[in-house]
Amino acid sequence: MKRVFLIVLDSVGVGEAPDARLFGDRDCNTVKRISSSPYFRFETLRRLGMGNMDGLDFLPGEKEPTAAVCRLKERSMGKDTTIGHWEIAGLVSPSPLPTYPDGFPEDVISEFEKATGRGTLCNKPYSGTEVIKDYGEEHIKTGKFIVYTSADSVFQIAAHTDVVPLDELYGACRKAREILKGKHAVGRVIARPFTGKAGEFVRTADRRDFSLTPPGETVLDALKAAGKTVYAIGKINDIFAGRGVTEHVVTHGNAEGMQKTLEALEYDFEGLCFTNLVDFDMLYGHRQDVDGYAKAFAEFDAWLPTFISKMKDGDVLMITADHGCDPGDSHTDHSREYTPLVIYGKPVAPVNLGTREGFCDIAATVGEYFGLPYRGDGKSFLRGILRPTETELALCKAAAEAREASYSPYSGYSVGAALLCSDGTVYKGCNIENASYTPTVCAERTAIFKAVSEGRRDFTMMAVCGGRHGPLKGAFPPCGVCRQVMTEFCPKDMPVLLMTGESTFDRRTLGELLPFSFTPEFME
Ligand code: THU
Repeated sequence: MKRVFLIVLDSVGVGEAPDARLFGDRDCNTVKRISSSPYFRFETLRRLGMGNMDGLDFLPGEKEPTAAVCRLKERSMGKDTTIGHWEIAGLVSPSPLPTYPDGFPEDVISEFEKATGRGTLCNKPYSGTEVIKDYGEEHIKTGKFIVYTSADSVFQIAAHTDVVPLDELYGACRKAREILKGKHAVGRVIARPFTGKAGEFVRTADRRDFSLTPPGETVLDALKAAGKTVYAIGKINDIFAGRGVTEHVVTHGNAEGMQKTLEALEYDFEGLCFTNLVDFDMLYGHRQDVDGYAKAFAEFDAWLPTFISKMKDGDVLMITADHGCDPGDSHTDHSREYTPLVIYGKPVAPVNLGTREGFCDIAATVGEYFGLPYRGDGKSFLRGILRPTETELALCKAAAEAREASYSPYSGYSVGAALLCSDGTVYKGCNIENASYTPTVCAERTAIFKAVSEGRRDFTMMAVCGGRHGPLKGAFPPCGVCRQVMTEFCPKDMPVLLMTGESTFDRRTLGELLPFSFTPEFME
């Protein structure tokens, strides 16, 4: 049974992105900042290999890491929670969600007033507690909604529960959601009910968020459509406006989020468990609390071994982030940063994938792991992280044996290939040279011609190794002629293992080695 546990450490960035200046950021690095705190702990994540990530040389590395790691760049033109999560789920946003530092435009407000039958007050960025202090009484007197925003892409409506019943407030939010489309598609419309007497107004627990629906198909939708479970923990359900989610639980903070994720390990399901741990951002990042942030990070690091010890065979854990929020930089807002990605589980080899071009590669990889066609805007790195299977290792061994028979006195390069048929039969081939050079045949073609001349065409995998006589020094990819011959007889999605050592290899497909190839179909 396959399961992916995807945990987003909200705002845990790992260093300034190359385009940070475009977002008003400089000298931001959330993890580096908190690593200077005496409360910072980095035991489990160090052992997993997080310190080996590109650009994280300020943290201790690990010679024998147990997880695959890489650093991700954000492709979307935004640095907020919604856009970050949508990209993790496969969707790149070409423009940021709109913000309103000068309040909402006339036409939006008048449409809202017409739709709800109530006037509006404020219409500015405001603190949620101050806004009810300053406008609460006028609101009670006039019955007008208090409409305000913040640095985020939000349309917030505050109303006293004695003046506007909850249902009416929620109804007004739905109407606002209808109006706020196209260029005014704010991330969230938020109902902010409050109660109490003048001077003692307090907000109630009935806040409700009306999120923007993702503008395209996410990996959550694809998983749900394929009948898999998508279990959302924390604010994930809200971020996706419930789309693609099959079950969800709302949490209050990191401790509960971690607890629910741990409990999910005990549930019987195939699919994705998607958790957001919000405290890093909400309680410490925005509030510029370096020590608090470091403590929360230490708590997560200390919780991980319990989670890992309970993982089952097909489980894959992915730990990442949606943006940065350096608690020690010059502002309280999010920061445009690289995010970390740590991938751990039985099927995963501890490779370092360097720096990758988009958060959306996570969705593409999850899609491929579940055997779905979904890749979204990303590129899957699944084949780069999967541990070799028995079959792959056996085929590599056969290719290495074939290389021993190489006849290559002229070039000094010996090559071996092994071709697997659907019933398990393996055809081996080596390169065979000639004093007149041109009759030379490559290892791949030797194997293919041997098999085809025995009546076989049902090829499922090939392994190739080669190089100067002696131990392998790296991949030795098939030449153009061999690729053409492979294209004639092998399926496009056939894996080709380019051996880099005795039991290590790059997994490619034939289609990747020879895209847009000339195939028998062109001869029809
Ligand atoms: N060679 C192969 O066997 N396979 C390839 O696809 C690349 C090249 C051999 C042919 C020749 O004997 C030697 O490597 C140097 O080109």
